[in-house]
Amino acid sequence: RERKRKEGVNLLELAASFFRERLKMPEGEGARQYLERRGLSPDVQQIFGIGYAPDDWEALKRHLTERGISDAVQVEYGLLVHREESGRTYDRFRDRVMFPIRDVKGRTIAFGGRVLGDAKPKYLNSPETPVFHKGRELYGLYEARQADHRLERVVIVEGYTDVVALAQFGIRNAVATLGTSTSEEHLTRLFRMVSEVVFCFDGDRAGRQAATRALETVLPLMIDGRQVRFLFLPEGEDPDTLVRREGAEAFQDRITCANPLSEFLFDQAAAGRDLARIEDRERYASQVLAALARLPEGVLKSLLLSELSRRTGVEASNFSALLARAKATAV
Ligand code: CTP
Ligand code: MN
Ligand code: MN
Ligand code: MN
Ligand code: MN
Repeated sequence: RERKRKEGVNLLELAASFFRERLKMPEGEGARQYLERRGLSPDVQQIFGIGYAPDDWEALKRHLTERGISDAVQVEYGLLVHREESGRTYDRFRDRVMFPIRDVKGRTIAFGGRVLGDAKPKYLNSPETPVFHKGRELYGLYEARQADHRLERVVIVEGYTDVVALAQFGIRNAVATLGTSTSEEHLTRLFRMVSEVVFCFDGDRAGRQAATRALETVLPLMIDGRQVRFLFLPEGEDPDTLVRREGAEAFQDRITCANPLSEFLFDQAAAGRDLARIEDRERYASQVLAALARLPEGVLKSLLLSELSRRTGVEASNFSALLARAKATAV
């Protein structure tokens, strides 16, 4: 298994340097211009190892084949696509800006490739391979730890370009999930390294829905000492566009002032409800209790319970009884 990992990583490192080389060559001109237009400096390109996959069906394949790597292995690690009908293989990534995805030790385990224009799909990612499981990896985590070995807080954003743009502005602790929602495994792994996580999704409908899902996912992990906050961006913005518009300091302030989990939880439950009405207050309290039922026992849970009691005027002991019952019936 470890041998397999080495084989895969060597191959993927070879591919990553191939892409980086190509970005410097004449054929990389369009990609260099694209990166420049997006305001990504050569320095930050280098930190993240950004490259370019040429507009060619077999450029990488030829490069790797010359180095004795079989088609089968190239397919297994997601670099070549195998077409069943014709039996032929060709480069998965063509004419795209390439973002290497690294594991925590800095080994390249996959790629994300962005089109230079508006073609679809905008991003193409490596498939699941023996070394890449997208539900557990976080783009930028290696780079964030390189920038600060005592990393205490990470900001989870949606996209590659968000991570890279923030880094360029000196905000070096952003990581991104890879086109999936934040999983329990992502968070468990992060909390082994840091005590604070700030969720920062795009200021659009999808981003707000992602925040709600993230709250659900993180609740069972909220043991005392861990902090979680939610940063909501203005409509239509993502971290990349916003940090360019308002600068690093303003963005950093937004991170520092992000909504604590407790407030987000109450805000969510209150949304669209008129708390002057008993029925609305009932649903409000039920929603908060359902969340509390998923929290581990601890100080946070007790504090939230008394806060709920304060906000609804119902004695906390009544809620505790309900909570115990909700827990007993929960699956
Ligand atoms: N994503 C993906 N496949 C797509 C679209 C998106 O895997 N077809 C993932 C990528 O990781 C992307 C993230 O979801 O970075 C967020 O998507 P989006 O907000 O659409 O992209 P941006 O990162 O903002 O991309 P850009 O700024 O380059 O347009
Ligand atoms: Mn596996
Ligand atoms: Mn979006
Ligand atoms: Mn975005
Ligand atoms: Mn973007």
